[in-house]
Amino acid sequence: METHRAHCLILPYPVQGHINPMLQFAKRLQHEGVKVTFATTKFLFETVDEVSASISVETISDGYDEGANGIAMEIYFPRFQKVGSETLTELVLKLQDSGRPVDCIIYDAFLPWCLDVGKDLGVRAGVFFTQSCAVNNIYNHVHKGLLKLPLEESGVDIPGLPPLLASDLPSFVSNPGLYPASTQMFVHDQIENFEEADWIFFNTFYGLEEEVIHWMAKILPVKTIGPTIPSMYLEKRLEDDKQYGLNLFKPKTNACMSWLNERSINSVVYVSFGSLAKLEVKQMEELAWGLRASSYHFLWVVRESESKKLPKDFVKETFGKGLIISWGPQLDVLAHKSIGCFITHCGWNSTLEALSLGVPMIAMPQWTDQSTNAKFVTDIWNMGIKARPDETGIVRRDVISQCINLVMDGKKGQEISKHAKKWKDLARQAFDEGGSSDKNIKDFVSKLIQS
Ligand code: UDX
Repeated sequence: METHRAHCLILPYPVQGHINPMLQFAKRLQHEGVKVTFATTKFLFETVDEVSASISVETISDGYDEGANGIAMEIYFPRFQKVGSETLTELVLKLQDSGRPVDCIIYDAFLPWCLDVGKDLGVRAGVFFTQSCAVNNIYNHVHKGLLKLPLEESGVDIPGLPPLLASDLPSFVSNPGLYPASTQMFVHDQIENFEEADWIFFNTFYGLEEEVIHWMAKILPVKTIGPTIPSMYLEKRLEDDKQYGLNLFKPKTNACMSWLNERSINSVVYVSFGSLAKLEVKQMEELAWGLRASSYHFLWVVRESESKKLPKDFVKETFGKGLIISWGPQLDVLAHKSIGCFITHCGWNSTLEALSLGVPMIAMPQWTDQSTNAKFVTDIWNMGIKARPDETGIVRRDVISQCINLVMDGKKGQEISKHAKKWKDLARQAFDEGGSSDKNIKDFVSKLIQS
């Protein structure tokens, strides 16, 4: 008798930092025999140059098929909810009519309305959180009123977490007045109905956030399924799974890798602030001069939209010492023997990638969940140091070059290297046969097939 092949429809929020982990999860499910359809927005589908051939892709609409550049969040999200709900419903019905009925919608926690679409259509749903368990726990506490905003104390004690200063909390919690629309979305909307979902997936792994995962799992059926990075950088069980497979920016792979191939072991500082962060002009300048002052080579990802902030003639003046690219193959870069450390904004994917590949970090968090990730990187996982900003919020050039020297050269660097192996091994073990994430994925698939 042929076993029923369950079908999951996977919907990420359409930015790189959400597409990567959900696409990787899709590949893992496919490896377990699940049929997967990945749904992107129409605009995104038309702008990307390639999508991993192994995944079937369909589209829905966010209401902005010509692009939503410059549209305020408080306008974008409600429109996405309205048009997204209609077009998601149409997609599920279309798949059903074409003999591919959907058994489960796995949706990004940023799109909580997908759960209502699933309920209306009688399709089960799993919510996928792209942030750390610590951050989910903090938002859950705020949303439930257990942590009141604005904060009254300079520090907080939250069950499952180490004592945190206000400055270690996500920016929407430490400074809610600065981003009212984002605070509403991150802290309230994505938490509002998630407990009603049939499954709750967190992109993290047990060995990394043991205490907080244990605490949350006591009250909720949480499944950790991370780190969602391509198998060839972890346990290598998925043949040829070397890249995420859906780039919103065109990577300068050849230029970048041939430049790195000419550098010696641990001689390059890799710098990237992910796909969204916008640095102040002053911060770009200080970073640029800090990199020039250090005695190491640097590879710096400066997205096209940020490049005008570079100091005049900086590229010319640092020719030979540094390479600036608009986007790169980050996993290949982090895995390259020439990379000695990573100056990062501590986006959750970059953090998991550096931990899984054993690369020491210099944390320069910008906003959203990054301060909390930076706190864990530096004080809990001992995988890096924080480049401290001055009273105006800018990390100065001398701080940057001192941090580079400390991590590349000094005792601190040696101490970090000792911890690197541990996290690398734990990340790999989580995905190896019988590891915590492997078990959770298999358990989900077997429940999906049975019911
Ligand atoms: C966003 C948020 O900012 C982050 O805090 C949240 O946790 C996830 O969503 P982003 O800022 O883009 O993401 O950062 P990050 O989470 O690090 O994701 C960036 C992704 O782009 C990573 O997977 C990284 O490997 C990839 N990348 C980055 C490249 O492939 N090439 C590059 O040159 C830079």
